[in-house]
Amino acid sequence: MNVRLACYLAVAFVLAACKPEARPGMAPAAGVANGPAPGPAVPNAAPTDPVPAASPAPPSPPVRPAAQLRKAKMLAEVVLRLKGTDLSADADTKAMVDKALAANQGTATFVEIVEAFALKDRDAELLQIAIAQPAESVAALAMRLVLANGGTETVQKSLQGPDAAAIAQVLGNANDQRALALLSPIVTDASRDLSLRQESLRALGQFETGTRQILALYQNKSLPPELQNVAAGVLAKAPWDEVRAEVQRALPPPSVADAKLPPIAELAARSGDAAHGEVIFGSLCFVCHQVGGKGIDYGPNLAAIGNKLGKDGLYLAILYPDAGVEFNFETTLLALRDGNSAIGIVQSDTDQEVAIKSIGGTVSRYPKADIVRRTKQKTSSMPTGLQSGLRQQDLIDLVEYLSTLRG
Ligand code: HEC
Repeated sequence: MNVRLACYLAVAFVLAACKPEARPGMAPAAGVANGPAPGPAVPNAAPTDPVPAASPAPPSPPVRPAAQLRKAKMLAEVVLRLKGTDLSADADTKAMVDKALAANQGTATFVEIVEAFALKDRDAELLQIAIAQPAESVAALAMRLVLANGGTETVQKSLQGPDAAAIAQVLGNANDQRALALLSPIVTDASRDLSLRQESLRALGQFETGTRQILALYQNKSLPPELQNVAAGVLAKAPWDEVRAEVQRALPPPSVADAKLPPIAELAARSGDAAHGEVIFGSLCFVCHQVGGKGIDYGPNLAAIGNKLGKDGLYLAILYPDAGVEFNFETTLLALRDGNSAIGIVQSDTDQEVAIKSIGGTVSRYPKADIVRRTKQKTSSMPTGLQSGLRQQDLIDLVEYLSTLRG
């Protein structure tokens, strides 16, 4: 039996085991629950034929979501074996692929199938997957496929919509030069939302050409002031030797008390005295961070920060707090009905009230009815310039200490 026939049989089996009546009271997943595929794909499914990729049918088990997932996975495995088939010339395989796609909506498998058959009409679904998990590698792959399909216009459209910031983030990870032309206009467009512009700036910084564009804006003094801090952080972490050298010439390094700081890569290669770093941490950082139960619970707990960030990431976090504000730790400003305002990190947000944690760690609750406006601040509430009173060696010791914190 050839591979294709075997695959058809497996699909017939999967579909047959998945009839809607086996699942009382549950919404059938589109495609999986439609019974055996009609048409010439299945008539050979005689019981005596060996059926690959599936064991004999169990006596009609109740189909639960887990079983549904298994079916979706099986369907995907089967069609992925037909990778590369020209679907325009093969209606049966196309029907099977459509079923597998429907059963695997919203997943990495969906993206894999689209890639396997070079499908051109799935851009909208690919973008939805990218938007749902913009930091994941599946999002980057989905975006690459859309761009390779010539879907630049679709992406452009989503950059006008409510998910623009997620799209910008994914464009930064997609490793496709077409992203540049989509991102750069947003950075300089003052009519766009500032956090979207910052996200686009970070995304541009993932590309060498994009980083050069940012540097040029900086050197021509055409970078708007509200983007300077983010740009400085993006430029400081440029990994390309040549760009890095130019950045060094163009941007004053952050100052410490006794020296001009060398590039972050150079700092990160040095080692320091962790015990002394711990003392520095106690004097400057406990006011906002906890480690080992000590300190104030305001910013992220740093007990395992050495696992999360390398030394270069630690220098960036300290020297350029605005370059990448931790999700969930954005500063929010509440304007209150009585004319007062509250600022801090949102700790909880229910139908009735918003709880705000202020610097110092106190939490205050405000009834929703008393809140007239709510704005996210664009900068980190971790101050810039914390290192300015330290000697260079103190900073190196501090980072040495942080890199030993591994939970
Ligand atoms: C006024 C409060 C404040 C002070 C002081 C402060 N931080 Fe922060 N820090 C924050 C907040 C809030 C965040 C999360 C928002 C962000 O990422 O910018 C943060 C984030 C960080 C992060 C990134 C954490 C992560 O999970 O990515 C590191 C590392 C860090 N701080 C280290 C330090 C060190 C070291 C010091 C002392 C030199 C310090 N901070 C002082 C408020 C503070």
